Amino acid sequence: MKKVCIIGTGYVGLVTGACLADMKNKVICVDSNAEKIRMLKRGKVPIYEPGLDEIIRRNAAAGRLRFTTSIAEGVRKSEIVFIAVSTPPKADGTADLSAVAIVARAVAEAMDGYRLIVDKSTVPVKTGEKVAETIKRYNRKHVDFDVASNPEFLREGTAVEDTMKPDRIAIGVSSKRAAKILKELYAPLRAPVIVTDIKSAEIIKHASNSFLALKISFANALAHICELAGANILEVVEGVGLDRRIGRSFLNAGIGYGGSCFPKDVAAFIKITEELGYDFELLRVVEKINREQRARFVKKVEETLWIVKDKVIGVLGLAFKPNTDDMRSAPATDIIAALQHEGASIRAYDPQAMQNARRLLTGVRYCANPYDAAKGADALLIVTEWDEFRDLNLDRIRRLMAHPIVIDGRNIFDPDVMEEKGFIYKSIGR
Ligand code: UDX
Repeated sequence: MKKVCIIGTGYVGLVTGACLADMKNKVICVDSNAEKIRMLKRGKVPIYEPGLDEIIRRNAAAGRLRFTTSIAEGVRKSEIVFIAVSTPPKADGTADLSAVAIVARAVAEAMDGYRLIVDKSTVPVKTGEKVAETIKRYNRKHVDFDVASNPEFLREGTAVEDTMKPDRIAIGVSSKRAAKILKELYAPLRAPVIVTDIKSAEIIKHASNSFLALKISFANALAHICELAGANILEVVEGVGLDRRIGRSFLNAGIGYGGSCFPKDVAAFIKITEELGYDFELLRVVEKINREQRARFVKKVEETLWIVKDKVIGVLGLAFKPNTDDMRSAPATDIIAALQHEGASIRAYDPQAMQNARRLLTGVRYCANPYDAAKGADALLIVTEWDEFRDLNLDRIRRLMAHPIVIDGRNIFDPDVMEEKGFIYKSIGR
């Protein structure tokens, strides 16, 4: 059993804290947002993540998981202190590390004995050095400490499972003591652990996310080529992905990647490498393909409807991917804004993300269910591949629509079935 403090109760911090508590550690989660901490104390979880509520309730009840706004309290009661605050992008694409710096100082000022300070936020290479310098500067009691990097690879929607059954755990350290503590902490997971120097661990995070983004853009470029050649992207990626050196995952063509990580991390990695003196052109093209994919989808709608002005367009799915309520960098925002700009009126439905969407998208009629969104529509767009859309009663949808046009940005339907059912059906790369 270890005593752990997690600073920052965003996606990464909260899931990590809950899962470490579930592994029988004693965890204190800290956040400067008093309202959030009040909610968590009452057992209310501020994000939608399957399974998380239950783990938080169970471990809070067992006394293994507590919440506070005080960094000092968290640091005094723990041996390991994770920094999991957000590192949002600045206008130039670099990460804003001010929260990390503030937290590092507060941790240093509260330390009354050895502490291992572990960075879990996604940060540029060499941040560990800066954190160590900051801690040294404000370490008034001159206690021993170590800094480590332990990047997080969890995905939204499967965050608990990703944390409990990770492909690998990357630990960047500069001392044997730090390596030992973190290996012990993660031992119950029985996952492969790779121990590196701090800078290498920091690069592993950006390199992993950039490579996954690259796979998606590669698949999207292939989809475009398939459309030009009259081939089928699903069959192509099946054939390509069966090569074990390549792998089938993250080769789904669609309307491009969104979310709080890929867009931000690719942009940040381009900047980081630029500052190091390398022009990562390859990643700039990854970004370009991703942007074009949204525009190309809008163009598909235009080509099908001819005149978009005054048309009613139903949109199924708003979140950047299924099983989340997250709207950050969601393709839906650009796509809907572009169609509204041309004078379309939008009826939208998403099982979880409508509340968040309301803050970003105005003038949208939010619907109670997918059928309501299809009502009177001149076209229905599939923007997020929620499972419930795969099981829709398509005959009912067709009867409700003004014109039976479905434009599927996620390839969830079979073109032959859609044609049989009387739809004009367009998808990606087929
Ligand atoms: C990602 C990484 O997967 C995770 O390891 C990291 O810690 C955070 O960033 P997340 O943003 O939650 O996780 O979502 P992910 O499931 O990776 O999807 C990202 C985006 O890529 C989504 O918009 C999704 O629709 C898109 N995507 C994914 C595709 O377009 N095609 C694919 O084949 C896979």
